[in-house]
Amino acid sequence: MKPSVWQALEGARLVNGKIVLITGAAAGIGKACALMFASQGASLALVDLQEEKLREVCQEIQAQRGQAVPMVADVTQNQGLDYIFQTVLDTYGGLDILINNAGGGLPTDFFAITPEEWNRIVNLNLTAVFLMSQRAAHIFKKKKGGVIVNLSSQAGRSVSPTAGVHYTASKAGVLGLTRHLAKILAQDNIRVNAVCPGVINSDRIVRRLEEKGTMVETIKSIPLGRIGDVDEVASCCLFLASDLAGYITGAALDVNGGSLMM
Ligand SMILES: NC(=O)c1ccc[n+]([C@@H]2O[C@H](COP(=O)([O-])OP(=O)(O)OC[C@H]3O[C@@H](n4cnc5c(N)ncnc54)[C@H](O)[C@@H]3O)[C@@H](O)[C@H]2O)c1
Repeated sequence: MKPSVWQALEGARLVNGKIVLITGAAAGIGKACALMFASQGASLALVDLQEEKLREVCQEIQAQRGQAVPMVADVTQNQGLDYIFQTVLDTYGGLDILINNAGGGLPTDFFAITPEEWNRIVNLNLTAVFLMSQRAAHIFKKKKGGVIVNLSSQAGRSVSPTAGVHYTASKAGVLGLTRHLAKILAQDNIRVNAVCPGVINSDRIVRRLEEKGTMVETIKSIPLGRIGDVDEVASCCLFLASDLAGYITGAALDVNGGSLMM
C-alpha cells in the first residue's frame, strides 16, 4: 500500500515564510511541489508555458489562503528569465529556494535526432537549469543563504528506458552541474541537490506508458510493485529544500521504488 505523504506532513510547516520559485509548476511533479510547498507555509512564484493550468494551480493555492504568483514564461529564453526574476523580486523582494523542475524528453530514435532537437532538449533540461541557478545564486550570495533543488532523473544515473540519448545526456549533465554548484556555492551557505525520479505518475508519463502498452511490464520491473506518485517526488524536494536537510549538499536522491539501486 502507498504511504500517505500528506498524512506524514500534517501539522508541519517545513518551509514556513520561505519564498520559493518553481519551474514547470502547471502539471505533474512541479504542480505537486507547488501545492505541497504552499501547504508548508511558503510563498510561491510559479513558472510554466501553460497559462490556464498555471492559473488554476495558483487559484487552488490562494483558495487555501496560500500565496502564489503565476509567471507564463519559457525557461529556455533569456527574456523569459529576465521576466521571471524581475517578477519574483518585485512581488516578494527576495528568494530563498529554487526548484528547477521544468524538463522532459521524447522517445526519439538516436539516428533521427537532429542538431536542433538535441539543442532543444539540452537547452530545456540542462542549460535552463544552469541559467536559472546562476541568477538565483546572485540573490542567494548577497544574503548568504539559499537552496537549489534540481530535477534530474533515473536516466541521469543510468539510461532512459523510454526517452532518447539527449534526455539521458542532459539529465546526467544536471547531476554534474549539481555537484559542481554545491562545491563552489557552499561557502555562501547555498545548498544544491538533485532528485532522481524513476517512473512517476505525471499525466505525461502515464499517457506514454499507456500508448506504448508497457504499463504492466514497467510495474513488474519495479521492486515496490508500482509506479511512483508525484507527491512522493514533491516530498523529497521539500525535504532537500528544508532545514531537515541542512547538512546535505551535492547529493542526488533516488526516488524510484528500488528500480535502480546504487
Ligand atoms: N514523471 C516522471 O516519471 C519523471 C521521471 C524522471 C524525471 N522526471 C523529471 O521531472 C520533471 C517534471 O516531470 P513531469 O513528468 O512532472 O513533467 P510534465 O510534463 O508533467 O510537467 C512539466 C511542466 O513543465 C512545463 N514546461 C516544459 N517546458 C517548459 C519551458 N521551456 N518553460 C517553462 N515551463 C516548461 C510544462 O508545460 C509542464 O507543465 C522533469 O524535469 C522530468 O524530466 C520526471
